[in-house]
Amino acid sequence: MGIVRTVFDPAESSPGRFYRLLTATIVPRPIAWVSTESAEGVFNLAPYSFFTVASTDPPVVQFTSVGRKDSVRNIEQTGEFVINIATRGSMEKVNASSAAFLPGVDEFREVGLRAEPSARVRPPRVAESPASIECRLRRVIEVGDSFVVMGDVLAVTVDPGVLAEDGVPDFAALAPVSRLGRIEWGLPPEVRELERPGVPE
Ligand SMILES: Cc1cc2nc3c(=O)[nH]c(=O)nc-3n(C[C@H](O)[C@H](O)[C@H](O)COP(=O)(O)O)c2cc1C
Repeated sequence: MGIVRTVFDPAESSPGRFYRLLTATIVPRPIAWVSTESAEGVFNLAPYSFFTVASTDPPVVQFTSVGRKDSVRNIEQTGEFVINIATRGSMEKVNASSAAFLPGVDEFREVGLRAEPSARVRPPRVAESPASIECRLRRVIEVGDSFVVMGDVLAVTVDPGVLAEDGVPDFAALAPVSRLGRIEWGLPPEVRELERPGVPE
């Protein structure tokens, strides 16, 4: 006989309670620190932890905005965005950039970060982030109360100081932080290597 489990049924829960359950269960989540530019040329920056790879060939990444937030509005207007990797050293600033600033406020300046020109797109990257993914909007998919934003990757730019000998980021050097449930954040976890059992990725 199996161990009894507590069953959570969304039909019997409020959306707020279910959101808390989902975000404490689907953990840890990497954080896309999304930089955009408004049609008027104002920089915007905000963290999104509903973030992953959508396709590898072509490379497409995605994040989800619960509601049509400023980042989505800017991306719909300009067609471009940058996902900066949120790291241990800039955790407090990542958090600070999630405040509900009014549209028209330069969130780089507000939070005290340097905006650096990107390689392929107009929105700047965060100079303090060692790895950034430059994207062109592929499409926005409306799902329930949310907007899934998919972007074709035009370039990934990486500080050579965090690249390992094999040419890709070294996890310890990158030191990404993650979002957990409640107001909890994850620091870079312990790493173990395991050989794949011979199946293609
Ligand atoms: C670490 C972290 C992760 C977040 N992840 C998300 C997310 O995945 N989706 C979302 O809609 N809001 C998320 N938020 C909240 C947004 O960052 C917040 O609503 C922000 O003000 C949106 O900014 P914008 O309107 O400039 O796009 C997150 C906040 C933090 C601190």
